[in-house]
Amino acid sequence: MGRGIFRLEMDKSKQLQKIAREIESCKICHERTSGKSVPGEGDPDARVIFIGEAPGREEAKTGRPFIGRSGQLLRRLIREAGFSEADVFITSPVKYLPDRGTPDQVQIAHGRKHLHQQLAVINPKIIVLLGRVACLGVLELSVPILKDHGKILAKDGRKYLVTLHPAAVIRFPKYLPLIQADFRKFKSMLV
Ligand code: URA
Repeated sequence: MGRGIFRLEMDKSKQLQKIAREIESCKICHERTSGKSVPGEGDPDARVIFIGEAPGREEAKTGRPFIGRSGQLLRRLIREAGFSEADVFITSPVKYLPDRGTPDQVQIAHGRKHLHQQLAVINPKIIVLLGRVACLGVLELSVPILKDHGKILAKDGRKYLVTLHPAAVIRFPKYLPLIQADFRKFKSMLV
């Protein structure tokens, strides 16, 4: 039984590596983007996955997701919710730094393909959607984040929690209690 679980995790990590290699060689992903690919990182068997927008400069330099200013806030909120960063998986719908900073519709729609492959492998209990682009990328829905944050959506057998992107919280610090309350919600969904 224990060995079976170990084998499953090994398989998942190999499958995620295969998707990461596909992202690296994907010609469409390279259109109007630059830097290293940022496929995501964390536990291949995570119960919770955080989905952002697109890598920034720091991420494109290193190939690691959410390591800049908004990443530091995200990682702090994850720890405050009682999780270790190694227990969760962190990624974005768009895997390369967009030339214009924010991704366009075509880049978001294309990223959905790789993202859904990752979700199929990890099969998390909860998917935390950090902001508008995450909602568009995953659910193909334009969600008014300030109105709908904290809502749990169900689609195709998966559960999603909508919240703000940490960059919005850095820009408007008054939103910090909102994102903190949302993080408490997903925590209570996992226990
Ligand atoms: N913002 C994101 O949405 N993703 C990252 O990887 C970094 C910043």
